[in-house]
Amino acid sequence: TTAPLVDPFQRAISYLRVSVTDRCDFRCVYCMSENMTFLPKKELLTLEELDRMCSAFVRLGVSKLRITGGEPLVRRDIMTFFRAMTRHLDSGALKELTLTTNGSQLAKFARDLFDAGVRRVNVSLDTLDADKFAAITRWGRLAQVLDGIDAAQAAGLRVKINAVALKGFNEVELFDLQAWCASRDMELTFIEVMPMGDLGNEDRLDQYWSLKDLRARLAERFTLTDLTERSGGPARYIRLEETGQKIGLITPLTHNFCESCNRVRLTCTGELYMCLGQEDMADLRTPLRASGDDTVLDQAIRHAIARKPKGHDFDYSRQAVDGQMTRHMSHTGG
Ligand code: GTP
Ligand code: 5AD
Ligand code: SF4
Repeated sequence: TTAPLVDPFQRAISYLRVSVTDRCDFRCVYCMSENMTFLPKKELLTLEELDRMCSAFVRLGVSKLRITGGEPLVRRDIMTFFRAMTRHLDSGALKELTLTTNGSQLAKFARDLFDAGVRRVNVSLDTLDADKFAAITRWGRLAQVLDGIDAAQAAGLRVKINAVALKGFNEVELFDLQAWCASRDMELTFIEVMPMGDLGNEDRLDQYWSLKDLRARLAERFTLTDLTERSGGPARYIRLEETGQKIGLITPLTHNFCESCNRVRLTCTGELYMCLGQEDMADLRTPLRASGDDTVLDQAIRHAIARKPKGHDFDYSRQAVDGQMTRHMSHTGG
């Protein structure tokens, strides 16, 4: 029973992304509609259940755990869960415990996260302009996030910035973001906007900015070197020779990275999505609650991994709804 998790395409599953809440204190326009409805609390896995679930994956060979949301740091008492995961770092089974956050609560939690064994955080930040930030997040305050980033760095956490590449929005800030990250010794990753969630009138086709184009703009000012190293995530990296900094590109639309996929994602209700870009999922909450015997859960996890598809289906070239997922990004945490 200790054979590692391997899917039908011989990909070893070593990376679990866990969405601990579907709630968020922001409403980014490409992620959520203004009047999102959230799950009732009783649907959520409890912190104890999350612990049991994650521990099962760690036992089955997962060595990287990324906590996501929604905004993970708005889940009540979430530090209890982080501290519970510390034992897997201490045992050596888990190599990395990390999170993806909007940064709004980082000033409050940075020290505790470091003390729990977190060494790196990914902060989502699309613009450095306070007015544009307020517009894209609808409810967010840029200063609060910048304070959070300061606190994270002061606590010893490495910070990586994730920016969704948005045409007509942060296109003009490409070099501002790049220079700011260089000056603070932060990695910067750009993400192509993905067609997820029905957001009403927002049309993501209009917002889509290809990273091929972004890369060409960088090449006008810098000498770019393609790096072969991977972080265990979907990003490919380039180095700007003049600054020495690394820029990550996540290009689900222009370059499919599925062949090297190593991850699955658990939602806050205990559904396991084998692919971000597919609707198929396995309910793990039922086997979890059905028995205190972990072999039942382990079996359910193995069965789910055996269903992992070859890749996603995102596609802007097909007409509208076809390549569009109804599920929201906040459901599976990216
Ligand atoms: P690192 O450990 O720093 O490499 O992190 P990561 O890139 O794995 O995690 P992060 O949460 O920063 O991911 C950034 C974004 O990449 C996510 O929010 C998603 O938008 C996207 N992403 C991550 N994994 C996948 C995937 O399997 N498929 C697709 N299409 N997009 C993904
Ligand atoms: N396409 C691409 N990235 C998205 N994110 C949220 N929604 C989308 C989308 N539709 C990003 C956030 C954050 C990460 C968790 O997912 O900006 O960086
Ligand atoms: Fe919240 Fe992140 Fe979605 Fe923005 S992208 S609404 S910060 S979960």
